[in-house]
Amino acid sequence: MSAQLDLDSILEFTINLALEAGEMIRSGQQKRFSSESSNEDEKANSVDLVTEVDKAVEAFITKKIKETYPDHQFIGEETFNGQKITDEPTWIVDPIDGTTNFIHGFPMVATSIGLAVGGVPVIGVIYNPFLDQLYSAAKGKGAYLNRKTKLPITGKSKPLQSLGHALIAVEYGSARSAPQLPSKVKTFQTLAGSPDLGGKMCHSLRSMGSAALNIATVASGGLDMYWEVGCWAWDVCAGICILQEAGGAMFGPKTSSLSGEIDGDLLTGRKYLAVRGIAPSSDETSLQVQQRFAREFY
Ligand code: IPD
Ligand code: CA
Ligand code: CA
Ligand code: CA
Repeated sequence: MSAQLDLDSILEFTINLALEAGEMIRSGQQKRFSSESSNEDEKANSVDLVTEVDKAVEAFITKKIKETYPDHQFIGEETFNGQKITDEPTWIVDPIDGTTNFIHGFPMVATSIGLAVGGVPVIGVIYNPFLDQLYSAAKGKGAYLNRKTKLPITGKSKPLQSLGHALIAVEYGSARSAPQLPSKVKTFQTLAGSPDLGGKMCHSLRSMGSAALNIATVASGGLDMYWEVGCWAWDVCAGICILQEAGGAMFGPKTSSLSGEIDGDLLTGRKYLAVRGIAPSSDETSLQVQQRFAREFY
């Protein structure tokens, strides 16, 4: 199906849409910060938040997509009602990824717009309006930062010696009750812990509060890996396209499938491991090296 789509023009449309959404996010934050009555609603619990700006940005993105591609399906975080991803072209949108950061004024915030065909992400645009950083990719056409800098920006797939040398992003997410939080924290401790305690003692852990920006940073090479349990399709769809075009691999949602392929039904996948592009060795391809690190991780 993707062969019938003009990915160049869809990418151009998506980039312009993300830039416009970014402007709404910037001005929406200014308005909130200058108002005495701005507040946010709680969704599943007291740390699962949504603002009027999340909803307005999603409404704007939906309207533009429906006007331009009336035959396409649409799934967005704030209007999600249990839709399944079919083989049809489906836009998968997180209007604001990093809502908690947005509310606090921590600048790791992005709009994330992806298009999947047959369950495979073919367009991905992630725009951070506070740092003016635009990550974009179309399947088969490479991934870029601010349209010009080809990803990864750290050089072509620098080697990774071991998990102990890795800089790894992890997130707490909003599911904080048992068994989710203790299980996540156990993984954090194992990754950060001293080898004497059986841990990997990786270089360090980071937690930026935006799944999309974590994936984009793995694509750019600034992070070696990003692991999270609890992501939804809108957190990862655009990022997967960017990551894969930058030579990285996304593992999951089934941890047993380390093929580097994404499971067709993105909505049921809640556990993801992104690994950046890593140089092949004399007897291993890049994907085999990534799979080895993914296995070591689990
Ligand atoms: C969240 C952020 C956060 C991640 C959560 C996501 P939201 O998205 O990406 O970093 O830990 O799993 O739900 O709610 O800000 O769009
Ligand atoms: Ca949310
Ligand atoms: Ca999100
Ligand atoms: Ca969101």
